[in-house]
Amino acid sequence: QAEDGYRLWLRYDSITDAALLKHYRQNITAIHFDATSQVLNAAAAELLQGLQGLMGQEIVQTNAIQDGSVVAGTAQNKIISSIISTEETDKTGKEGFIIKTAMYKGRKIIVVTATRDVGVLYGCFALLRLLQTNQQINTLNITSVPKVKLRMLNHWDNLNRTVERGYAGMSIWNWHKLPGYIDQRYIDYARANASVGINGVVLNNVNANAVILSPAYLEKVAALAAVFRPYGIKVYLSARFSAPIEIGNLETADPLNAGVQAFWQQKADELYSYIPDFGGFLVKANSEGQPGPQNYNRSHADGANMLAAALKPHGGIVIWRAFVYNNNDDDRFKQAYNEFQPLDGKFSDNVLVQVKNGPVDFQPREPFHPLFGAMPATPLMMEFQLTQEYLGFSTHLVFLAPLFKECLDADTYAKGKGSQVAKIVDGSLEQHVLSGMAGVSNIGSDINWTGHPFAQANWYALGRLAWDYTLSASEIADEWLRQTFTNDNMFLKAVKPMMLDSREICVNYMTPLGLHHLMGYSHHYGPAPWYNKAERADWNPVYFHKADKNGVGFDRTPKGSNAIAQYNTVIAGKFGNLKSCDEQFMLWFHHVPWTHMMQSGNNLWEALCYRYYSGADSVAWMQRQWESVKNIVDEERFKQVKMLLGIQKEEAIWWRNACVLYFQTFSGMQIPAALERPG
Ligand code: GCU
Repeated sequence: QAEDGYRLWLRYDSITDAALLKHYRQNITAIHFDATSQVLNAAAAELLQGLQGLMGQEIVQTNAIQDGSVVAGTAQNKIISSIISTEETDKTGKEGFIIKTAMYKGRKIIVVTATRDVGVLYGCFALLRLLQTNQQINTLNITSVPKVKLRMLNHWDNLNRTVERGYAGMSIWNWHKLPGYIDQRYIDYARANASVGINGVVLNNVNANAVILSPAYLEKVAALAAVFRPYGIKVYLSARFSAPIEIGNLETADPLNAGVQAFWQQKADELYSYIPDFGGFLVKANSEGQPGPQNYNRSHADGANMLAAALKPHGGIVIWRAFVYNNNDDDRFKQAYNEFQPLDGKFSDNVLVQVKNGPVDFQPREPFHPLFGAMPATPLMMEFQLTQEYLGFSTHLVFLAPLFKECLDADTYAKGKGSQVAKIVDGSLEQHVLSGMAGVSNIGSDINWTGHPFAQANWYALGRLAWDYTLSASEIADEWLRQTFTNDNMFLKAVKPMMLDSREICVNYMTPLGLHHLMGYSHHYGPAPWYNKAERADWNPVYFHKADKNGVGFDRTPKGSNAIAQYNTVIAGKFGNLKSCDEQFMLWFHHVPWTHMMQSGNNLWEALCYRYYSGADSVAWMQRQWESVKNIVDEERFKQVKMLLGIQKEEAIWWRNACVLYFQTFSGMQIPAALERPG
């Protein structure tokens, strides 16, 4: 069916296993729903659609309670409050939920409840997930509370519908037809987000166009906000810092100028008149040519706080990005820390600083960003990238949950052992009120949303991890595969390992052992480790690998750029010492002789060759795994993935050959005999 990819993980096809079907039909016979709000209406509709599809029979919506009733509602519901105390429900906070098997007047029912409507919605999706993933449901007792408050997608979508670093077609926002025409896709997008707990979306590119803040566009933004509201999703916009000049007829955007402040205050009032629950602004300032407070000799804090003051009366927030770097520094790695760390404690309480997971730019592997743990007085929001700008676009199958987990699980030692990045992001380490995790969206107008059928899993993973970062990559892959493809064990056995290994495989054929940013200039696709012609040194691959006849890698120890000094001393000690530095980060921090002896007993040159060859060979293994499930998946997606893996295989070899042959011109050594082969 042509819509196989369109349905994402929200597939509610009838369960085929007869025993399971019987089990579900015994435990669920009807739904009782106090659908008294838009959100509860959406929840009821989803639950009804999902259950009827999965159970292949009509489910009645009735007030009478019978065996198998699903009773859904907030704690105010009389039936529910007679079963679950409000104290218990209160523990789930503003968005969590409880799903519980209970007895009510001699009837066995399932209760889905929360303090607020949105929690009920999340609970309904969670209940559907249990069926989609074939779990037993006769004795349920689930309490689930999101760990992170703002769980967001950042669209890098332009108003002309091109998408910055978008590889899945054009923007799904049809500005031309909005607000009058509401594409069904907007609703399905909201459903998909809500199903994984995403509660905020930034609609436009961080390289922002001020026009989106003008009334003609605010009307369109309001129409989208109205679609998303029943799904618990707030709309945010990227604000161009120089908007007072572009759309406000002012001559300056100086944050300390009274006219500029008045512009933003009026703009905020106007925004909230269109969208009463508007979330706030995301801002990229003084980065890659974007305007910002530094144009007026003001600090990032001056800029952020000025916007925050305008939004504050309305309950809005500012998410100020820390992705800054200029060409004057000896090491781009250090820039964000140098600019932002001294500002710790200077931001208003409705400002979050959004930090990319690593210090350079969404590489296949980066050490965690040194700002995590270094700004205790500021809520730091995580920015991951779902769109695979440096990981083979939507052509290569790379499941990113292992990358996200690696960063979230990394210990910063900010408050001693056990100060993982995740505890900074969720605000628990410093008891921050605000917390957030964002993913740069990989969504576009392609029928299957994300270009590669498996890239949907990265969207899914972001939502799931923002809700609960203690989930493992394997659990996430498992539930996504079951919902998106099938519960067939043979399928899971073949495809799950392929997904879980795919990121390491990509690292191996692109940038093993801590190499980074070897991708082609500007487009970032394919290998170009030799490139040295960019207008800025820090856009050249040669700047990052620094290969010469003595060795390869960026010396970030005190003998080099000393970027490691930005980490806590425990981490700096580990990374800074070649002996204790994990080999996977080695060339991030050291310029290492080609003859350096690795743990494996090979020298660095040989180890590099082995990694590149193993990476490319492993894609052939992925192809075999996929081939083995041919009869278990639908033909359409089987073929799509097969073709894409074919390209990935060719390109993994391209990467391997380009990098091995290029680095060989420095190492001067032979490719190990065991690896030599035609092709
Ligand atoms: C990367 C990317 C840009 C993007 C930037 C950002 O540098 O290549 O397209 O604008 O990140 O995060 O702001």
